[in-house]
Amino acid sequence: MNPNKALWEKGDFTRISATMRESGEALVGELGVAPGMSVLDLGCGDGTTALPAARLGADVLGIDIASNLVEAGNRRAAAEALTNCRFQEGDASNLEDLADDSFDLTVTMFGAMFAPRPFDVANEMVRVTRPGGRIVMGNWIPNDPTLVAQILKISSAYSPPPPEGFVSPMTWGVEPEVVERFTQAGVEAERISFLRDTYRFEYASSPADFVAEFRAYYGPTMNAFEAAEANGRTDDLEQELVALFTAQNESADANTTSIPATFLRVTAEV
Ligand SMILES: C[S@@+](CC[C@H](N)C(=O)[O-])C[C@H]1O[C@@H](n2cnc3c(N)ncnc32)[C@H](O)[C@@H]1O
Repeated sequence: MNPNKALWEKGDFTRISATMRESGEALVGELGVAPGMSVLDLGCGDGTTALPAARLGADVLGIDIASNLVEAGNRRAAAEALTNCRFQEGDASNLEDLADDSFDLTVTMFGAMFAPRPFDVANEMVRVTRPGGRIVMGNWIPNDPTLVAQILKISSAYSPPPPEGFVSPMTWGVEPEVVERFTQAGVEAERISFLRDTYRFEYASSPADFVAEFRAYYGPTMNAFEAAEANGRTDDLEQELVALFTAQNESADANTTSIPATFLRVTAEV
């Protein structure tokens, strides 16, 4: 079994993506998506950004490595009768089913960053995006003080070291690394731009309940708890995460959670 696929098919990421819908829709609203545009959403999950792009009239293909998320995306598109939005299984490291120059816009919000072989990922995104088109990536930033980088940092302290040669997904949040990957794929450095942006997680219960949701449904956190359990440290991990989520919660109501998380937004003009 491909460990990258196994990680994301574990649990049920739709439970987490349900808390990110407003930010996904807002982001798509800033990308100039227009009717008839051809959009690839890579590592699309269950369509947090794919569906809003299709609602704006684009012709959208969502690709994800997790078959359960592909099914969930197709169900969501069907429920809205979005015939211009379809989801299929695929690997961002090797988009062999897709022809060169197929898309006006390739979007990947916290998706392609998790695929192995980042140079292959950059090559594939550039290959399938037409000249004159754009690639927009959302990437979490290593050591950033906000939520997701901190969840991953805390979790890694409870997990065994990664295998030899493993390239951290968080390196996609480091500007010089991104420039190196895209320039090697043929994009001119002046055509790569960066900005810091924010996604907001909105959950209709307390921060502690939101941690429980991650523990039960988010593959990377599930793995961290399994590793912590093997060392008798689940309570420590739980406490660290509840402290983090509680400290970052901006909701005035203790029974709802609203947490902003900073990410690196990358635009590469192909
Ligand atoms: C943090 S989730 C983000 C999902 C979605 N873009 C969103 O904003 O809700 C990461 C996604 O990347 C997908 N993914 C991870 N590795 C992948 C790969 N090699 N190729 C395609 N998708 C991948 C996962 O299955 C998962 O859906």
